[in-house]
Amino acid sequence: MDQMNTRIVHVDRVSSTQDVAREMVSQELGAVVVADVQEEGRGRRGHVWLSPHGGLYASIILRSDPALSLRVGVAVARALRKLGIVALLKWPNDVLVAGKKIAGILIESSGETAVVGIGANIARAPLENSTCIASETEQQVTRDELLHSILREVEMTYKEDIIEAYRALCATIGRTVQVNITAGNEITGVALGINRDGHLLVDDGEETHVIVGGDCVHLDTGV
Ligand code: BTN
Repeated sequence: MDQMNTRIVHVDRVSSTQDVAREMVSQELGAVVVADVQEEGRGRRGHVWLSPHGGLYASIILRSDPALSLRVGVAVARALRKLGIVALLKWPNDVLVAGKKIAGILIESSGETAVVGIGANIARAPLENSTCIASETEQQVTRDELLHSILREVEMTYKEDIIEAYRALCATIGRTVQVNITAGNEITGVALGINRDGHLLVDDGEETHVIVGGDCVHLDTGV
């Protein structure tokens, strides 16, 4: 894989590393922008990503690929597992520990390149229903060690069947879920699985829906 000849640019305070990455390193595959603080961190589907000191906020330029969102989710979950944290994925790529969010991924693609944003809580959990590495393990990791571990894991995913790898880490399969697709368009049912395109299959009791994108909520406890 030729994407990870990494140039890492450190910045202290930015609006969003997504914007800096796009401006500074457009088209340079493998380049990474990492910030100490973001003032306007973005999450998926218009959410805000709170980004105080003590987190990883990084954007990587990668080649667009239909599995990118799942690929990076797998990589982040595995990097956390290497620290002894039992990280799982809520479809498509929220990284959870015992139901609490520890990391998230935002992909903004244009043409053949994608700006892949990764946010991970290291020293603190900015939201009530979130957690952080410091709360989940005694193992110490610096932000830059975590970033390098994630980059290595991303690279590894190009050598395997990413859908199989994703399924093995996906906490959504088998759960009762509600997926908000657009405002007022929700599907509730049992998540049957992930198809070869990475789409979520949800049985609402009448039919099986193939869901390409949305905000997924686990309605049961999953025990
Ligand atoms: C989500 O779970 O909603 C995705 C969160 C993505 C946050 C990261 S932090 C680095 C990059 N810059 C941003 O503004 N967002 C992403």
